[in-house]
Amino acid sequence: MSNYHIKNFPEYFHEYRKSVRNPELFWEEIAEEHFLWRKKWDNVLSWDFTKPEVKWFEGAKLNITENCIDRHLYTNGDKTAIIFEPNDPNEEAQHITYKELHARVNQMANVLKNKGIKKGDRVCIYLPMIPELAISVLACARIGAIHSVVFAGFSSTALATRINDSDCKMVLTSDGSYRGAKTIDLKGIVDEALESCPVVESVLVVKRINSEISMKEGRDFWMQGLLDEASIECAPEIMDAEDPLFILYTSGSTGKPKGMVHTTGGYMVYTSYTFKNVFQYREGDVYWCTADIGWITGHSYIVYGPLANGATTVMFEGVPSYPDYGRFWEIVEKHKVNQFYTAPTAIRALAKEGVSHLESHDLSTLKVLGTVGEPINEEAWHWYDDNVGKKKAPIVDTWWQTETGGIMITPIPFSTPTKPTYATLPFLGIQPALMDENGKEIKGNQVDGRLCIKFPWPSMARTIWGNHQRYKDTYFSAFENMYFTGDGALRDEVGYYRITGRVDDVIIVSGHNLGTAPIEDAINEHPAVAESAIVGYPHDIKGNALYGYVTLKESGEGRDHDNLRKEINQIITDQIGPIAKLNKIQFTAGLPKTRSGKIMRRILRKIASKDTSNLGDTSTLLNPEVVQDIMDNAL
Ligand code: WTA
Repeated sequence: MSNYHIKNFPEYFHEYRKSVRNPELFWEEIAEEHFLWRKKWDNVLSWDFTKPEVKWFEGAKLNITENCIDRHLYTNGDKTAIIFEPNDPNEEAQHITYKELHARVNQMANVLKNKGIKKGDRVCIYLPMIPELAISVLACARIGAIHSVVFAGFSSTALATRINDSDCKMVLTSDGSYRGAKTIDLKGIVDEALESCPVVESVLVVKRINSEISMKEGRDFWMQGLLDEASIECAPEIMDAEDPLFILYTSGSTGKPKGMVHTTGGYMVYTSYTFKNVFQYREGDVYWCTADIGWITGHSYIVYGPLANGATTVMFEGVPSYPDYGRFWEIVEKHKVNQFYTAPTAIRALAKEGVSHLESHDLSTLKVLGTVGEPINEEAWHWYDDNVGKKKAPIVDTWWQTETGGIMITPIPFSTPTKPTYATLPFLGIQPALMDENGKEIKGNQVDGRLCIKFPWPSMARTIWGNHQRYKDTYFSAFENMYFTGDGALRDEVGYYRITGRVDDVIIVSGHNLGTAPIEDAINEHPAVAESAIVGYPHDIKGNALYGYVTLKESGEGRDHDNLRKEINQIITDQIGPIAKLNKIQFTAGLPKTRSGKIMRRILRKIASKDTSNLGDTSTLLNPEVVQDIMDNAL
């Protein structure tokens, strides 16, 4: 029998050995014992990384919402599934039981069906962190529609790109959203996006902020009116294990965003099993992940993983600083949170405010703390450990990606001894490898290299929507027969992994992946700009911030630099969203280039990081003279 709940370090090793010796048997036992299948699989796994093609539980039939909702009804129907904590602390929190969730998901599923959505159709969800976001994700899954959640901080251009890439027929949104003391006109952004999205037939609008918005006759409908007329029963669509469940876009180093496609059966098994073990969730615990459902962390560890375990999961609409920096701790106390999962950037921002906000709150319910999204620095790790967990709540530094669907390298609390800044050991079934530049695996300890995964795991993305070749090129071409993560890592003397950061042109700012190319493309649209290059540099709170080097056209020379900076950041905000704004913009006469014309970002990165002691040999550059000039005028 499989051991669903790892309780100590020897057990971890025992299970890990089993999981890599015979992964098929390992995952089969877990799938068999802990989930509801309408039909069992014919084959546990077939795979070929050269194509690449991966199939888990082929031939099996299921609906993931039956696993996340229906099967808990008989045993735990009155248990709270979702606690919704609104942006405004004076607005009452909502406790949605599994029974209510069942009814609300079914109602919404019926609304989607009545509006013509069928199995396999793509539905774009552009909603703030309100219950309707989780409910609409599940409603899509109920009827076999493929959800594509777009983070509600993206601009209209970014939204339109994502809607068009996967031909979404419908958009779910709200009149607006609250963000701290501000409101955001989401419907206005959708209207603007839809000017260039001819495939969208309908827009369903949730009322959240009661703002005056315009509704387009025949296209836009208020959600509430439709829900009121819909039945609370909706039979689940029976899906194949390998049917797509959702698309989620992530930035690449070049080109347009990649729509990562996740399928149903393997994703469910892996997110559920990792949730249970990585957070050591026990019946009755209250679990809170502060991410937005617009990112993979929210998909896997606010919605699917917790609900598949019948857990109580908190959804928070607001921001850590509103009405003040004590808000997170107030919520932990109010809802007696046991597991708290957040990002290093939030920890650093909170640490900066001191401990006074923590002292007035009872945090004694906390048992496990988690971090995700970027490397956590030692100082932030200790601040979290000392002041939030009071050294009693182990920190799980979880490394994973949109592409991996679930947590890949992580301590198991109360089992794996933690080590600051280390994600420690692979989760069960995960076989990491460090590779050198010549494509050879680096064995042994105290080494570093490029992080790859040797063997498939159930929740890996199966393709990029509409572009399988790009999936192959990006993840399976750098190293033979391996999935390449794009990250660098080191392995210490006992075999613990530490993720050192991206080795490609993706920059992680406040935990968000940003590709340099789309930002540069946006900047280059400014009429005064000739060329630009973006690099990341270390930032106290954001982890990395963006530094832009911009050369101007002749027509732009002599223009006021501060105005230009504002205009450039406005273009970025319009095209991508405020998360991609540049912290620093330096105007330069030229950009350092190789003889083949490639921008030498390595040099620019060093200058931006104020680390110019060893720039390497610049004499081979096409234009070595610009380097000194850039250094002299660095910001
Ligand atoms: C980075 C987020 C260090 C990494 C779940 C990865 C991390 C990218 C960690 C994926 C961590 C994520 N330590 N770096 N614990 N977790 N990363 O797709 O560079 O938004 O490739 O998925 O974030 O970001 P994504």
